[in-house]
Amino acid sequence: MEKFVLHNPTKLYFGKNSIQNLEKEANNLGKKALILFGKNSAKKNGAYTDIVKCLKKLGVDFVEFWGIKPNPRINEAYEAINIGIKEKVDFIIAVGGGSTIDTAKFVSLCIPEKHDLWKVVKEEVVPQKALPLIVILTLSATGSEMNCFAVIQNDDTKEKLGFAHPLIYPKISICDPTYTLTVSPQQTAYGIADIISHLLEAYFGECNSYLADKYVFATFKEIVEIALPLLKNPTNYELRERIMIASTFALNGITYFGRKTPDWGVHEIAHNISALFDTPHGASLSIVYPAWLKFFKQKINDRLRLLGKNVFNVNNSDKVVERLIKFFKSLNCPTSLNDINLKKVDYENLNNLLIKNKPSGYVYKIKKNDYKKLIKLMT
Ligand code: NZQ
Ligand code: ZN
Repeated sequence: MEKFVLHNPTKLYFGKNSIQNLEKEANNLGKKALILFGKNSAKKNGAYTDIVKCLKKLGVDFVEFWGIKPNPRINEAYEAINIGIKEKVDFIIAVGGGSTIDTAKFVSLCIPEKHDLWKVVKEEVVPQKALPLIVILTLSATGSEMNCFAVIQNDDTKEKLGFAHPLIYPKISICDPTYTLTVSPQQTAYGIADIISHLLEAYFGECNSYLADKYVFATFKEIVEIALPLLKNPTNYELRERIMIASTFALNGITYFGRKTPDWGVHEIAHNISALFDTPHGASLSIVYPAWLKFFKQKINDRLRLLGKNVFNVNNSDKVVERLIKFFKSLNCPTSLNDINLKKVDYENLNNLLIKNKPSGYVYKIKKNDYKKLIKLMT
């Protein structure tokens, strides 16, 4: 095991009506908030009404920013940063899934010292301050509600990049599964593919961490147990509750303490697919993971077998990959580039983008000549 520091400062309120805690938490954060939303789901799931009621009761002024897209773009983030600076807001509230939360993280980091967002993403400047961020989670998938990661896309350069900074842990995250009852089965399935992928990125990270492995197996089994019942009963509260806590804990540190780093190679490749074709995050992962596992099969054989034994009760690495593909298919998630209707020219464009952006992963390094082979495994 690698030595480590575990410091996760996010205070999580979990469960029905946990929005009631917003009042006391927002009370001492200042006089004005900037609230970020996606397109319109916050009005359908009840979160918007609850938040507005609470802030009005508190006498906290607020500015609303609507329209953060899935695979969030820097353009909206720049707009929100400018509004936040102009309106002199004291704190940020993000209402939504990973796209809104990640955008809010960048906004909270760029406002106080008026940093240029893209320079922050590229680590050309290192912010020293951030505005406090409150998250109201409405979609179980990314774990962004309790971690220090954020991902954003630049359409001009065709880059979708991950970023980490200790100042972007949300201060408070309010996780009420009730708000997720309106999530469509397809979006729920993409979330499940994302959770599984976070478990695997950690599991194939550098250095063994035996207890962390056991968290991976337990969470994986929990997901496999509840996935299909949830897709059949998307408004079942108990199942929404179980998936929500699994998604938060799949990427809050508990699965990768004692490892030097998760691998992240699959996420890096998947981000290029999203940057090029606007593929939903979970869908791009369910395409890349089977190919990545096949590509590195020799190197990861023992780890794959251990995973198979603990999660699927199979002892053969090929069978583990087969079972994973079968699982993704049962969720109606794509498992090949054909499934998202790409053509030959798209494969060439993807190969060129990979050569330009050089996604690699930290442990099982992917090299320039490997991209074509990986794309072939994805078709
Ligand atoms: O735009 P609205 O109307 O809000 O609709 C959204 C959006 O269309 C909808 N949705 C959200 N809550 C809903 C709902 N629909 C009905 N009812 C609700 N309660 O879901 C759609 C997708 O939303 P999005 O936020 O894009 O989904 P997700 O949570 O999967 O976030 C994906 C983004 O997070 C990044 C991904 O790369 C991607 O950009 N990630 C962030 C990570 C992190 N910060 O730790 C790690 C992840 O690996 C991931 O990379
Ligand atoms: Zn992910």
